[in-house]
Amino acid sequence: MSERIVVVAAALLDAGRLLAARRSAPPDLSGRWELPGGKVEPGECPEAALVRELREELGVSAEAVARVPGEWPLREPYVLRVWTARLHPASAAPEPLQDHDDLRWLTRDELWDVDWLDQDVPAVREVAGLLEAA
Ligand code: CDP
Repeated sequence: MSERIVVVAAALLDAGRLLAARRSAPPDLSGRWELPGGKVEPGECPEAALVRELREELGVSAEAVARVPGEWPLREPYVLRVWTARLHPASAAPEPLQDHDDLRWLTRDELWDVDWLDQDVPAVREVAGLLEAA
């Protein structure tokens, strides 16, 4: 029997742009771009995990806004769920502190300029609709 572990990722939106983060590790993922996030810890709610991961990885103060519909399998036992998120007004600007070596704020037109992780592509597609509506 396999217990699923949720990985949360943030579609961090600001001024009509989406934050993309380039992974620096592990070797098979480095250089690919993702929505920043990580594993939900036991007893933690996903929104709190998202806020924690964004603080740890990017040094920002942010909040989860809404779940992006869908759920995408990663390697066993992980499953990816995505929330839109926004920075608090007093937040520092994001910096690649952990796991990443570059960040980009992408407009709708730039969304596919980066090499997203395969598993993040469906979530980015969902978020593209939000940017168009913005
Ligand atoms: O930071 P933490 O160790 O909790 O998690 P992570 O290593 O950043 O992510 C856990 C797993 O989810 C890794 O295998 C990542 O490749 C995957 N992941 C993903 O596929 N897409 C994302 N947007 C974030 C993480």
